[in-house]
Amino acid sequence: MEYIRLKNSDLLVSRLCMGGCPMGRYDWGSDVVENELIDAVHCAIDCGVNFFDTADTYGLGQSEETLGKAVRGRRDKVVLASKFGVHAKRGTPTFYDNSPAWIRRSIDGTLRRLGTDYLDLYQMHYRDGKTPLSEMVDTLEELKREGKIRYYGLSNLHIGDRDELAAYKGRFVSLQDEYSLAQRKNEADILQLSRELQVTPMTWGSLGQGILTGKYHRGNVNFKAGDRRSREIYVNFHGEKLLKNLKIVEVLKELAQQYQKPVSAVAIRFILDYLPESVVLCGVKRPAQMLDNVQGCDWTLRREDVERLAAVSA
Ligand SMILES: NC(=O)c1ccc[n+]([C@@H]2O[C@H](COP(=O)([O-])OP(=O)(O)OC[C@H]3O[C@@H](n4cnc5c(N)ncnc54)[C@H](OP(=O)(O)O)[C@@H]3O)[C@@H](O)[C@H]2O)c1
Repeated sequence: MEYIRLKNSDLLVSRLCMGGCPMGRYDWGSDVVENELIDAVHCAIDCGVNFFDTADTYGLGQSEETLGKAVRGRRDKVVLASKFGVHAKRGTPTFYDNSPAWIRRSIDGTLRRLGTDYLDLYQMHYRDGKTPLSEMVDTLEELKREGKIRYYGLSNLHIGDRDELAAYKGRFVSLQDEYSLAQRKNEADILQLSRELQVTPMTWGSLGQGILTGKYHRGNVNFKAGDRRSREIYVNFHGEKLLKNLKIVEVLKELAQQYQKPVSAVAIRFILDYLPESVVLCGVKRPAQMLDNVQGCDWTLRREDVERLAAVSA
């Protein structure tokens, strides 16, 4: 397994991080089963993956609960990351909230559900448009002093946030944003913000929510209700974008055959090679998917193949 130290921290993490969004079991289809998710976590640990990402909002706590069950007795082997700032409760409208009161309330729920007394990385999910950054950072520093969190990170920034955040350079350790062969429009911003804020980029949707695994084609993307990808907002599976993605998948399939790797592993390898300081987040539903994805680590694509993938996905 390849490991990288998150900037400004002593967290040595696998460059493949298991994403906990499908673990929330909400809106990811009917084929997500807790036992298989737990087996997938154990499979990941056996393969050397030590980094696990979740959020309190994934399945309104279900993802954190399942991850907590899966790592019970193995806490010393894993680096746990979660997120705060989506104020979601059943029956009330959801909004972003990075206020000190909400962060304090959220961390206690997160620790309880994960079954741990400290979190390694606590990430702001989105900016809320109202809480001053100084108040949020002060609260995170207090949580650090209290031993509830070890480090804190960012997610879903806009380039316009850079000036305000510059004052906190060296405090945050990571920055999550959507990035994959299917979604490169944020690339310049991710690189610039990561460099300027000195944070490790973490890519989400790294498999384009599954389209880059090679198992989807024009005839089988008719997801049922209960699968978020049926909605057009999940652009990777619809219209022109789907057709473009299937062209990328053709190249991925050819390379997968040449390198004797699963298609998903080549899609992951592209990010690892193209953004050499990054961590790649992938959500999985079962151990077989994890076993495919870990094959993205510990090798490199030839330069001409990286360029070919960059060109077809430009
Ligand atoms: N910061 C943020 O705002 C944010 C936003 C979104 C996600 N994230 C994080 O990033 C992680 C990754 O993103 P994501 O889970 O949305 O999308 P993703 O990793 O691009 O895709 C995950 C889906 O791809 C399919 N898949 C994965 N590996 C596969 C394999 N080897 N073979 C076949 N199918 C495979 C599975 O769905 P099917 O089997 O149903 O196709 C899985 O649920 C999340 O889990 C979460 O931790 C963060």
